[in-house]
Amino acid sequence: MLNIIANNKIITHAVAASDKVSLEEAFEKIRRHPSLILPLSETLELAQELWSIPVGRFLIENRGLNGYWTSNLILQIQDSFDQHPLENWIRQKAPIVKATRERFRFFILELEKRLKEGITLASIPCGLMSGIFEAQKRKGMDISNVGIDLDEEVMEVTRQNSQSIIPTNKLNFIKRDAWDLDINDQYDILISNGLNIYERDHDKVKHLYSNFYKAMKKGGVMITSFLTPPPPHMDCVFCNYDKSDLRFQEVIFNNIFDVKWKAFMSEAEMRDLLEDIGFEVIDVIYDSQRMFPTITAKKP
Ligand SMILES: C[S@@+](CC[C@H](N)C(=O)[O-])C[C@H]1O[C@@H](n2cnc3c(N)ncnc32)[C@H](O)[C@@H]1O
Repeated sequence: MLNIIANNKIITHAVAASDKVSLEEAFEKIRRHPSLILPLSETLELAQELWSIPVGRFLIENRGLNGYWTSNLILQIQDSFDQHPLENWIRQKAPIVKATRERFRFFILELEKRLKEGITLASIPCGLMSGIFEAQKRKGMDISNVGIDLDEEVMEVTRQNSQSIIPTNKLNFIKRDAWDLDINDQYDILISNGLNIYERDHDKVKHLYSNFYKAMKKGGVMITSFLTPPPPHMDCVFCNYDKSDLRFQEVIFNNIFDVKWKAFMSEAEMRDLLEDIGFEVIDVIYDSQRMFPTITAKKP
């Protein structure tokens, strides 16, 4: 029996200004880093450059992504033609961003297959719920949507974005910690991306997915994702990736941003975790680099 106290805390990004990493603090962490890939002066210069572009500054300050930046990176390959070369690289070359974009397409395809008139769908954490309302509109389906997140700002933006796509009475929000859901037998489809990958404690991840299991109706389907371990991990299954891009990603995302999304799992570990809870795994769909698979699972 798991006895885990809810975080009651946004784990993906910093909300209070005092929790954000300043450029000076980032420099300090880089100076103390035991195994930088590039020489120190070059890494510091890159950090300074990254600070000058919005997505770079957000990632230095927060070490993770909020709903807005997740959607922005997925949907906007290019903002403008005079973009900073580092921003171009992040959007077009960073292997994890490419994998995220593919994962997003798989989520929408898996969702579309399962949309039925009158069902209830939950997105936890909801972020901007990008693509979800458009899929319902394309299918002409009347669906009840529930967005659950701890970030009030993102819920407000999502509400506004939804208004031209679905009727206002078809979207509700619950502001709640995903580790403290306390919802039973409500959802036919539960979509979850971008929370488990920040939590390295296996028991806490299991608690999260047990909450999702309880929140789903019998016969309901969950669409979720996990990050597979990078090299040199023995369970690494990466393929078809550009070695120099992966190395540069290590410099930017690990040496400089020091991102928190480092809770990697193999397919076997993810299957075991879900099956232990009671889920029946339906499918595991790999992106072309085998970095960020989509997994569908049913509550029998
Ligand atoms: C990386 S974004 C992913 C958003 C969305 N699922 C997507 O794929 O676009 C992470 C989201 O998790 C939310 N979040 C972070 N910690 C949370 C928690 N403890 N409970 C609920 N939501 C949380 C953040 O506010 C943010 O919207």
